[in-house]
Amino acid sequence: MILVTGGAGYIGSHTVKYLLDEGFEVIAADNLIYGHQKAIDNRAKFVLADLMDMKSLKNLFDNNKIDAVIHFAAFAYVGESVENPEKYYYNNVVGTLNLLQAMLQHNVKKIVFSSTCATYGEPQYTPIDENHPQSPINPYGRTKLMIEQIFADYEKAYGLKHIALRYFNAAGCSNDGRIGESHTPETHLIPLVLQTINGKRDKIKIFGTDYDTPDGTCIRDYIHVEDLASAHCLALHKLDEYSGCINLGTGIGTSVKEIITAAEEVSGKSCPVEIAPRRAGDPARLYADNRKAKELLGWHPKYTNIKEIIRTAWNWEQNKKY
Ligand code: UFG
Repeated sequence: MILVTGGAGYIGSHTVKYLLDEGFEVIAADNLIYGHQKAIDNRAKFVLADLMDMKSLKNLFDNNKIDAVIHFAAFAYVGESVENPEKYYYNNVVGTLNLLQAMLQHNVKKIVFSSTCATYGEPQYTPIDENHPQSPINPYGRTKLMIEQIFADYEKAYGLKHIALRYFNAAGCSNDGRIGESHTPETHLIPLVLQTINGKRDKIKIFGTDYDTPDGTCIRDYIHVEDLASAHCLALHKLDEYSGCINLGTGIGTSVKEIITAAEEVSGKSCPVEIAPRRAGDPARLYADNRKAKELLGWHPKYTNIKEIIRTAWNWEQNKKY
């Protein structure tokens, strides 16, 4: 049985569905602060639990035979983490320490962790490989790096097997249209562009057109959420023989302007834009060297065409279930 913390969140819910399709038994735990209960596949067992509450964690492990954990539960708004770091250090770091305590007390020693390219900070070179120095520039990124470091110490002392998956920009929605991305507030580029095209917003602000990139806008590596899900499943299988970190990205960089154009082509509608100042903390370009994921996990992203990724998100935007 696999415990998925944050199983009602965006990436968590897609991973729950993927694991069930692969034949795993799954418990999805979530405090539903940001997650959506409707996002959890009804083949999974749902448990309302909060990592800050040791009692609910103990019950979870006492009452279920858990073999491994996939840990998504975290707050993930970069801007909010700068304004309210306490919220992030408590929830993300202390929450993970609590989870690890419950795991070790129940002799569960395998974890796949939702980490981020934000642990690298301002890139010194691209594409970014796993050996790139880690120097996060905001509390959110620092919480994720601290957790990676905690895992390494716990492995030496307690034999914890861990794989931290460092995602680039998660994007898209389930191909069958049943689950998708639904954040309140929404801050991510692709859903904001699609909401604008769909008439829910007046315009999309382009944060900076004076970057040192071919069209002056920031370049990111958009990776489909179902490709993230498949990598988590492969990582679970790898935990017996490997601990460490692995980048998850397509290796392809797409600019903000290219995203807007692709969304216009997919939807057949135009997107009103406004040129706005740069957003603090945005590096000009971030994209992954994904060779380790391919070689070590045998992972291959199915979605390498940005329009195909946006097509799944546009389908969801028009038929959102939550
Ligand atoms: N952008 C705009 N207008 C908007 C929103 C975003 O121009 O209204 C731009 C941003 O400036 C950035 C790009 O679109 O250049 C992508 O922005 P997102 O907010 O969608 O994603 P980020 O790259 O900022 O953030 C993602 C994850 C974070 C993670 C970070 C690591 O969402 O969790 O990558 O860099 F920390």
